Amino acid sequence: MAKPVLLITRRVPPAVEARAVRDYDAWLNPQDTPRTGADIVRLAEGADAVMCCPAEKLDAALIRALPASVKVLATYSVGYDHIDLGALRARNVRLLNTPDVLSVATAECAMLLILAAARRAGEGERLVRSGRWTGWAPTQLLGTSLSGRRLGIFGMGRIGRELARMAGAFGMEVHYRNQHRLPAELERGAIYHDNDESFLSISEVLSLNAPGTESTRRWLNAERIARLPRGAVVANAGRGVLIDDAALIAALKSGQVGFAGLDVYDGEPVVNPGYLALENVVLLPHLGSATVETRNVMGNLLLDGIDAVLAGRKPANLVS
Ligand code: DGY
Repeated sequence: MAKPVLLITRRVPPAVEARAVRDYDAWLNPQDTPRTGADIVRLAEGADAVMCCPAEKLDAALIRALPASVKVLATYSVGYDHIDLGALRARNVRLLNTPDVLSVATAECAMLLILAAARRAGEGERLVRSGRWTGWAPTQLLGTSLSGRRLGIFGMGRIGRELARMAGAFGMEVHYRNQHRLPAELERGAIYHDNDESFLSISEVLSLNAPGTESTRRWLNAERIARLPRGAVVANAGRGVLIDDAALIAALKSGQVGFAGLDVYDGEPVVNPGYLALENVVLLPHLGSATVETRNVMGNLLLDGIDAVLAGRKPANLVS
């Protein structure tokens, strides 16, 4: 019997690729050429399933244009803001994602951003590489210590809760803003705020860990930035759209925000040039879940889900 066809839009870890080739007529991308949503529509003709990536935007028009052969779309991410869910439902195409398995890796990345920003790691690295470092000096590149600082986590989902656990080990006091207060066993001593004002006023370090939705779009705007303690550290491992870039760039210039660490960008891979000109911001290329272990588990979870959908079973990671 012919194997079902699986289009995989980018290179995936070797073990995931080997399993895909074993179980499917797998259409791969050996050159790892970046794909657009329009490329997917073109390449998916005849495919039963598509494994796609968060960089590939599939809006309603593109979803409507997907070939009829496609029964399931599996995104290599927990976030699915790049896919028009309503249009996908109307086409009766299933959507799979990768919840839970990337929470630790992404929280590690948020912690990395916080540390790198607060301890000026980007500036330090550039100094050493430039050959201009003249040696240790008592006032060189002084950052801010995390111990005893109040961390405000915006979005206390699985990733936010992992970050809270890690921040505890750094001696930080954890506060959070979320749609709902968590039960005590998930809250684990973190302090809930039911309004932005009190939350922002204590956030000496602010970490954005919410999904990118219409209601969180540009949440961190000029008005909210003004409510942060002066010199606050801001980290974003959630989604670029959470930040009004012009407002954050102005605050980094004025000192209202002392340091920032960003892993995600509105309109990425294009990065607002205002950030590139600033020393006090650390910029990573969307590395949130980028560990060997995590990307293997993510790929296997997606393959489990595709197997299930094509066999008529309900997968654990079914979004819709
Ligand atoms: C996700 O899973 O949504 C991440 O941002 C991708 O690394």
